[in-house]
Amino acid sequence: MNFFQIGEFFRFYGAAITKYQLHSPFVFELACAVLEDERWFYAFRDVEKVREKMLSSDVAVSVVDFGTGGEHEKLPVEKKRSVRSIARQAGSSAGQGQMLFRLATHLRPNTMLELGTSVGIGAMYLASAQREARLVTLEGSPEIAHIARMNLDLLGLAKNVEVREGPFEHTLSSGLQELQQLDFVFFDGNHRSEPTLRYFEECLAFAHEKTVFVFDDMHWSQGMAEAWQKIKTILA
Ligand SMILES: C[S@@+](CC[C@H](N)C(=O)[O-])C[C@H]1O[C@@H](n2cnc3c(N)ncnc32)[C@H](O)[C@@H]1O
Repeated sequence: MNFFQIGEFFRFYGAAITKYQLHSPFVFELACAVLEDERWFYAFRDVEKVREKMLSSDVAVSVVDFGTGGEHEKLPVEKKRSVRSIARQAGSSAGQGQMLFRLATHLRPNTMLELGTSVGIGAMYLASAQREARLVTLEGSPEIAHIARMNLDLLGLAKNVEVREGPFEHTLSSGLQELQQLDFVFFDGNHRSEPTLRYFEECLAFAHEKTVFVFDDMHWSQGMAEAWQKIKTILA
């Protein structure tokens, strides 16, 4: 955590409200279903077994990184990384994955879109919560996309999940055209404000009144915090 993120944590904590202060019944129910559900599912064990397997892998893959850097970093950057280090750093944690699972279990979306697949941890949690739903997940790094497909296949989830390879600039609009209507979107692929807002606005055109957008890392940097404020204003 850097100083900005520590500051954001305290700002967020200071302004946080309890579920009893929520006015919308939809949001109240969502908060209870996601934050208070303590049930354990076999899917959690299955996904974590796949993660464990990757954590013991020394295989090195070529990674095209499009957006984990700062606002002004030159992109994209290509480098070699071990599957172990990608699984350790880039994927959703078990807690985050379980939250995605609970969200999808509660909301029961028919269509889901994920921007940023990495090795497929988030996608495995989402797809195992809603096996009949269609999930399109976008990944810029071909070798990482390949690992994600193998992982989804291992859990028998490949049938309804499509991992699309290439920069979001190339894959997002065709993914949206294919899904037509978005019930659930997980933005987890870029840590810069301008592209995040652009992808959000592109997705908004395919949303309906019950669509849920989940954003990761909105307190990552000044730019992302500003993007988050703009998103809230657009949706208000
Ligand atoms: C944080 S990881 C995704 C983790 C995953 N959502 C999960 O829950 O396990 C972000 C991924 O997004 C991909 N990515 C970032 N910016 C991208 C872009 N502009 N186009 C395509 N892929 C991108 C990166 O290659 C990386 O694998």
